[in-house]
Amino acid sequence: PRRIIIDTDPGVDDAWAIALAVASPELEVLALTTVVGNADLDTSTRNAHTLLSMLERSAIPVAVGAEEPLGGLLPELIANREFVRQIHGASGLGGLPVPDFTPPNDGPHAVEAMAGILAEAAPHSITVVALAPLTNLALLFDRYPEHLDAIDRVYMMGGSGNGVGNVTPVAEFNVWADPEAAQRVLSEPRVEISMIGLDITLLAAVSPADLDHLTTPIGLALTQMVHGYGDIRDDGWPLHDVVVVAALLDDAVIKTQPATVEVDTARGERRGHTRCTFRSGSSRPVDNAGALPERAVATHLDRDRFRDVVLSRLSKL
Ligand code: BDR
Ligand code: CA
Repeated sequence: PRRIIIDTDPGVDDAWAIALAVASPELEVLALTTVVGNADLDTSTRNAHTLLSMLERSAIPVAVGAEEPLGGLLPELIANREFVRQIHGASGLGGLPVPDFTPPNDGPHAVEAMAGILAEAAPHSITVVALAPLTNLALLFDRYPEHLDAIDRVYMMGGSGNGVGNVTPVAEFNVWADPEAAQRVLSEPRVEISMIGLDITLLAAVSPADLDHLTTPIGLALTQMVHGYGDIRDDGWPLHDVVVVAALLDDAVIKTQPATVEVDTARGERRGHTRCTFRSGSSRPVDNAGALPERAVATHLDRDRFRDVVLSRLSKL
């Protein structure tokens, strides 16, 4: 199986993505690493443990990561917390009640845990699934450049291919919450990255009728989460992070195009915007030669395949 690390801030859609990963024999989840994002760090970490216990996979280690974005806890981030709570609910897992407990935090920091896995791994043998602000990964890239060649590819949910936002008109949450980290990660030439942005994940909605397929106890818990998930559109609830795992399982779920991605880190209205410059024809953009590395940026979602892979697997969990 493909060996993956999931960096996450669960989060209703993170929870579904984690469930899909553990439901899939093609993937071996080596660790969950947590970060501040949808919820504060303790809540994200508690939810990661709650999920693994629900999925009967408590043997998967959870390593606790960054408590603050690289760019600091700016006033707008603090002000945004209420908005995020409305999306993912007070527990962070939507309509699923979660027992209040303080999870253990006695293992290595997320960055050390990732570095430890990479240090032992063969070149290009570990896939990183990034479902949250990119703080932990940016720290990893800075502290452990010597281990980065063990990474096969980073698949990230974040930013957007066409510049549409959800926190602001031009910025998607995971990049907006730590633009400095996103910029650091996206400019690292040693690591291949696929970026699945909001413009694509907004198309990945599950409808009330889709949820009827989920009848096992775990399926019902996933349904309960979604019923408290505030991100609801005309065609259902877009499960952003799930697209990343679905694309690992079936590479026809998304199509990508090579593009450079520049993150706006200035303090101002465009903070967190991802400017994607798609390659035209077969040559690299002339004005970028040697500067930003190209990324595989998602440009298309096959929604039927997405729903098939997600529902067929989660309905059996
Ligand atoms: C992203 O933000 C979070 O709220 C979701 O979990 C997802 O990772 C979507 O913008
Ligand atoms: Ca997330």
